[in-house]
Amino acid sequence: MCDLSCFSVLITGANRGLGLEFVRQLLQLSKPPQMLFATCRNPSKAQELQKLKAQHSNVQILSLDVESIISIQEASVFVKDQLKGLGLNLLINNAGNAIANTIYSESEESMHLLYQIHVVGNLKMSQIFLPLLKEAAQRGPQDSLSCNRAAIINISSSAGSITEVLGWEYGHCLSYRCSKAALNMLTRCQALALKEEGILCTALHPGWVQTDMGNSSAFVTTLKKEESVQGMLRVLSTLSEEHSGGFYSWEGKALSW
Ligand SMILES: NC(=O)c1ccc[n+]([C@@H]2O[C@H](COP(=O)([O-])OP(=O)(O)OC[C@H]3O[C@@H](n4cnc5c(N)ncnc54)[C@H](OP(=O)(O)O)[C@@H]3O)[C@@H](O)[C@H]2O)c1
Repeated sequence: MCDLSCFSVLITGANRGLGLEFVRQLLQLSKPPQMLFATCRNPSKAQELQKLKAQHSNVQILSLDVESIISIQEASVFVKDQLKGLGLNLLINNAGNAIANTIYSESEESMHLLYQIHVVGNLKMSQIFLPLLKEAAQRGPQDSLSCNRAAIINISSSAGSITEVLGWEYGHCLSYRCSKAALNMLTRCQALALKEEGILCTALHPGWVQTDMGNSSAFVTTLKKEESVQGMLRVLSTLSEEHSGGFYSWEGKALSW
């Protein structure tokens, strides 16, 4: 049972994988978002998303590349106009990429690219959408933090946990691990800075899931995206002040940094 009930949600990388599944399941909630901004790099090629939009008038598909500040700014102008002062309740920074280099072959280009997507991109998303998150926080109950009020959820990975180093035996993936570790620190800093604004900030590990990314490793994934997202939405519905600045699995287990 998931009693998430946000008025507005924005998600990045919504054209496939976990992002698309988030959109599907958000639409199936007993109280689906009235404004669901599903963003991706190439809306015209996002056929599954286009089908969902055709069936649900609360879905808006926007072009957004987290590597481009101009693209994020343009999307924020559109979203602000649509929200008409009601604010953005939930920002899910889901877009991600993985590159299977080893400690010997890892390149400067991959290090820059994944840092740009997972850290700089997510930082800019949060900065540019902050006024809208603040608006939502000011309209919500003033005494508690929650995803229904205002939240930034960063989709991280246990591969970036310095303690767990998930899946080392299946690949070094340094650019991925280092950028997700940095994303974890970004989440912690965001939580400290934005608590007074009424904005919850949490990092989530979705599990090792059967998506293009999950299946690209040598590890045989067993977790289906439906189960992962169902679990993550349940976790989102339970997050409160004590979870802000934390790192949790799709099942709600607290993870080590
Ligand atoms: N699957 C797993 O086992 C697993 C485990 C731990 C963490 N995660 C994390 O979960 C998140 C979703 O992963 P997934 O498994 O769903 O991967 P996926 O199926 O490979 O999907 C990745 C998504 O990110 C988008 N994306 C990549 N670069 C982007 C950019 N610059 N701007 C906007 N969107 C961009 C992709 O868009 P395009 O189609 O345009 O490329 C795609 O929609 C990622 O953050 C990933 O690190 C996944």
